[in-house]
Amino acid sequence: MNNNEEILRKNVYLESERLLLRPFSLDDAEDMYAYASDPIVTKYLTWQPHINIAQTRKVLNDFFINKPGIYAIVLKQEQRCIGCIHIRIDDRHDKASFGYVLNRDYWNHGYMTEALDQILELAFNKLKLNRVESTHYARNERSGRVMQKAGMYYEGVGRQEVKIKGTYYDVVHYAILRNEWVGDKH
Ligand SMILES: CC(C)(COP(=O)(O)OP(=O)(O)OC[C@H]1O[C@@H](n2cnc3c(N)ncnc32)[C@H](O)[C@@H]1OP(=O)(O)O)[C@@H](O)C(=O)NCCC(=O)NCCS
Repeated sequence: MNNNEEILRKNVYLESERLLLRPFSLDDAEDMYAYASDPIVTKYLTWQPHINIAQTRKVLNDFFINKPGIYAIVLKQEQRCIGCIHIRIDDRHDKASFGYVLNRDYWNHGYMTEALDQILELAFNKLKLNRVESTHYARNERSGRVMQKAGMYYEGVGRQEVKIKGTYYDVVHYAILRNEWVGDKH
């Protein structure tokens, strides 16, 4: 296990004012199915909506449970998993990227910005990385807005960079460097 993996394993619980980020368990299947089966939620994601809860259970088992760096986002007030955020570390370049998804009933309350703040805190304060980067498809402006609100900078557009579900999408690139990050803004 390298140093970054060890740090991730020590930080499987992250907490902010309204959210707890914690490991997934099979008990989250219903909550995950609620967002993973929604075609509006998955419209700009690479995977197809889940078709039944058995599929969600299999995906949870195969890809989400016991995977440091993948966090279930729990709304403390409701004790319910409302989404997922995932940090992927690239050790060679001291950098990370991330992906996120949220149940549509909870959009536009600042939850994902709050979760991303925790991931940036982990990346810069604990993992001591130099850069965190991510992308969104050009039409998915609300995702870009989350990255802006978390303090990330626009770096440009890759024209028709990917083909998702038969459509070519322009890809918008954002990043933040260690020396640009101002922790605990809220
Ligand atoms: C992207 C996503 C995670 C955002 O989560 P969220 O908790 O609603 O995000 P926040 O509330 O922190 O911020 C959303 C911002 O987008 C803005 N917004 C909402 N709809 C918008 C639109 N159509 N165009 C531009 N901005 C929009 C909101 O006003 C808000 O900004 P503000 O605080 O300045 O008003 C959520 O919409 C989602 O899960 N989408 C589906 C999955 C997805 O696309 N993941 C990202 C792949 S790159």
